[in-house]
Order: sequence, then C-alpha cells, then structure tokens
Amino acid sequence: MKIALAPEALDQLFRTARTPNGWTDTPLEDEMIYQLYDLMKWGPTASNTCPARFVWVRSPEGKSLLASVAMPPNRPKILAAPLTVIIGNDLGFSETLPKLVAPERVPMVLGMLKAHEGMTESMAMRNGSLQGAYLILAARALGLDCWPMSGFDNAGVDREFFAGTQIQSNFLCSFGYADTQAVHPRSPRLTFAEAGRFA
Ligand SMILES: Cc1cc2nc3c(=O)[nH]c(=O)nc-3n(C[C@H](O)[C@H](O)[C@H](O)COP(=O)(O)O)c2cc1C
Repeated sequence: MKIALAPEALDQLFRTARTPNGWTDTPLEDEMIYQLYDLMKWGPTASNTCPARFVWVRSPEGKSLLASVAMPPNRPKILAAPLTVIIGNDLGFSETLPKLVAPERVPMVLGMLKAHEGMTESMAMRNGSLQGAYLILAARALGLDCWPMSGFDNAGVDREFFAGTQIQSNFLCSFGYADTQAVHPRSPRLTFAEAGRFA
C-alpha cells in the first residue's frame, strides 16, 4: 500500500509552487535536464503512445529564434530563461508504436487510428498535453520552477523547429530557478463545488 507524500512535497508540487516572473542566474546542468526527461517519461498516455516531442532550447541562437516567433511580451522571458522547451505533438507517433506497444497490440492501435477520422490528431493533442503537464510536475518534484507559455506563433515555431516532420507545436515551458522576489500575487482557484459535482 502506498502512502501520501509528505505535506512539504505536496506544497512543492502544488500548494506553494508558483509560476515565476523572473529567473536567477543559477545554471541548469545537463544532468538535471536528462533527469527531468527520465522522470516525466513514465507518466501514462493512451496505449502508451507517448506522442509528445521536445526541443530543449538553451543556446543563444536557439533562444533568439524562438523569441522571434513568440508574442512580444513573451520574448524577453524566453531570452532570460536558462531553458525553454518546445512541447510538440507528433502526428507521426504511429511510427514509434512498435517500440512502445506489445507486438500483438500494434495492429489494433493502428486499425483504430485508421478507422476514426481525426483520432490521430486528438490522441496526439490529448496525450501530448498530458506529457507536457507531467514535465511541469516532474520539474517541480526535482526542485525546478516552470513557466508555461502559449503566447507564440504556432506556424512560426513549426516552420523554424519542426520543418520536414509531422510534429506540431503545442506549448512552450521555460525551466530554471525562479527569482522569488518577482512573482505576482497568487490568484485564487475554483472551489470543488464551483468546478464540479458528484453524479
Ligand atoms: C498552457 C499555459 C499557457 C500559458 N501562457 C502564458 C504566456 O503566454 N505568457 C505568460 O507570461 N504566462 C503564461 N502562462 C502562465 C500562467 O498565467 C500561470 O501559470 C497561471 O496564472 C498560474 O500562476 P501560478 O502558478 O503562479 O498560480 C501560461 C500557463 C499555462 C499553463
């Protein structure tokens, strides 16, 4: 039987975790980036399709290119972040199925995708977004701060970073160590009753 994580761990993942509004100079080591991927990859996806693909943007040239296709308010944020990850959905995810799914199940999944129009796109978006969320929580579990961003030109990002592939950008997320002095006041969340009901 598993036990709940300690209250401090729940704080770090959710209750006191904040979206930053500035970064410290503390660098993000390669080891941390690999650890981050190796933790998030275990999050579940439908039929284990794992459709998210990641571009880890950290070079000055990469940051400038990404900033050039972001909405103006997000440009300085990308330039200042130690790392910004482009999270994309691979519409060609069926090509990696043989590695990810038991051989006897591959024809079933491929058949399902073929039979239902739009299912490839919806599976890629749903499961790719989940993987992006796992990335945020994995980062918080490792003590990093995360700044997700959807204010950018998807077509521009796809042109500059995913040309010649079937990958479509979903959202961006910057990672590093937050300047805690800079954060905005915390906004409230909906209560249980406001957000849902029993049935
Ligand atoms: C999918 C997504 C897109 C976002 N897009 C932007 C953005 O384009 N620019 C920005 O500055 N913040 C962006 N944010 C940050 C949110 O505004 C922030 O996470 C939210 O207000 C919660 O803040 P808190 O974690 O400090 O409570 C985005 C967050 C998410 C999850």
